[in-house]
Amino acid sequence: MDNNRGQWSSKIGFVFAAAGSAIGLGNIWRFPYVVGENGGAAFVLLYILFVILIGLPYMFAELALGRSSQKNPVGAINSIKQDSLWKWVGGLGVLTGIGILSFYGVIAGWTFGYIFKTATGNLGEFGDFVSNPFIVLLLFAVFMFITTMIVYGGVERGIERWSKILMPILFILLVGLIIYANTLEGSGEGLAFYLQPDFSKITGRTMLAALGQAFFSMSLGMGLMITYGSYVSKKENLISSAFLIGLFDTLIAIMAGLIIFPALFAMGENPSAGPSLVFVIFPKLFTQMPGGLIVGTFFFLLLSVAALTSTISLLEVPVAYMVDEKKVKRKKIVWVVALFTYIIGIPSALSQGASGFFTEFSILPDRLSSPDFLGHMSFLWGDFSLAFGAFLLSIFVGWVWGGENAARELESGSPFFARTKTIWIFMIRYFIPIVIFMILLNLFGIFD
Ligand code: PHE
Repeated sequence: MDNNRGQWSSKIGFVFAAAGSAIGLGNIWRFPYVVGENGGAAFVLLYILFVILIGLPYMFAELALGRSSQKNPVGAINSIKQDSLWKWVGGLGVLTGIGILSFYGVIAGWTFGYIFKTATGNLGEFGDFVSNPFIVLLLFAVFMFITTMIVYGGVERGIERWSKILMPILFILLVGLIIYANTLEGSGEGLAFYLQPDFSKITGRTMLAALGQAFFSMSLGMGLMITYGSYVSKKENLISSAFLIGLFDTLIAIMAGLIIFPALFAMGENPSAGPSLVFVIFPKLFTQMPGGLIVGTFFFLLLSVAALTSTISLLEVPVAYMVDEKKVKRKKIVWVVALFTYIIGIPSALSQGASGFFTEFSILPDRLSSPDFLGHMSFLWGDFSLAFGAFLLSIFVGWVWGGENAARELESGSPFFARTKTIWIFMIRYFIPIVIFMILLNLFGIFD
């Protein structure tokens, strides 16, 4: 193997790194506000359904493609279909990694800033904080710098080691916060909003929101699992790994909701406040909780780490592409890609009040994206591009590479898979692309 590439040291190492990619701001920042905007429990059920029926089987496809080719998304596609237009699907994935990182890094920067705000008890107004151009740009830069340093260290020593230590700590802290939030007076109503479904709240838009959230949260649709799968050895069981990744990811999102909604109703706040939701609710929770500032500092620290294992993975995709395909040195190219991403992220960073132009940026209809630059980036890369990428990749795996070939790869390390492979092949060839296609059409208002 090309010694510029690396490999996970063990199955646990791989599962933690992939779960580290999946678990991030998507679970703790994005999931609660998307649930809040889409009416609560019914959306949560729909979300879980998409994770099981679409996210998981689709994840198998990306992992199989990555491990079989031992390449980044573009190289993986090229190794199956030489120099065809399909390689652009891999290219879209690489671009999507940069696109998501450009706004995700901004929010990760806020999280990082909140460590210090909470530690010093200086919580103030969220709106004042994010509209300060100097602070947001600095925090974004610091976060990108840390991300780059770790990706610089490579697959095993950089990414794997960190994920293994810090993810379990986050889990324990969340359990503690769930207990606390649910003892607050008035929290029961929040729990009901979160857990008692009202199916009249499901509309076409909710469907896309749920699907988009499933892809975003599980890091699917841009070839991240192709890239991480390329570092897995042939002996490992990809199926059980994918199950664990999906399970951990969903669990953390559900847990975040079990803190946010009870706390939110107890404090009389509005669940559909949008992206600012957790940055408003958590600080309030910490302010009124005994010893809350210490717990809160720790919370934002771990949330920053969760975000970090995701930003690392987002940067890893374009870097792996450059290392494999352009034969450049990892240690040089990481800085170039990171700097480029930072520059295109500046408008997002300034779009929460710092610059009037970017704050009021609105070329997409309001039903699709919030009217600011960051909202546009989040819709374009985080919702649309992931769903579109997954649509194309499922066709590529199911039809061009062939379901049978992909299934054979999955059987290596998990012989049990042979028994269910007919169902899986049907899903990857028909069910998954058709469902995604319908939801995308709906996005453009075709069924309205
Ligand atoms: N899954 C990550 C999160 O939930 C975000 C992400 C998306 C990371 C796509 C990599 C690829 O925070």
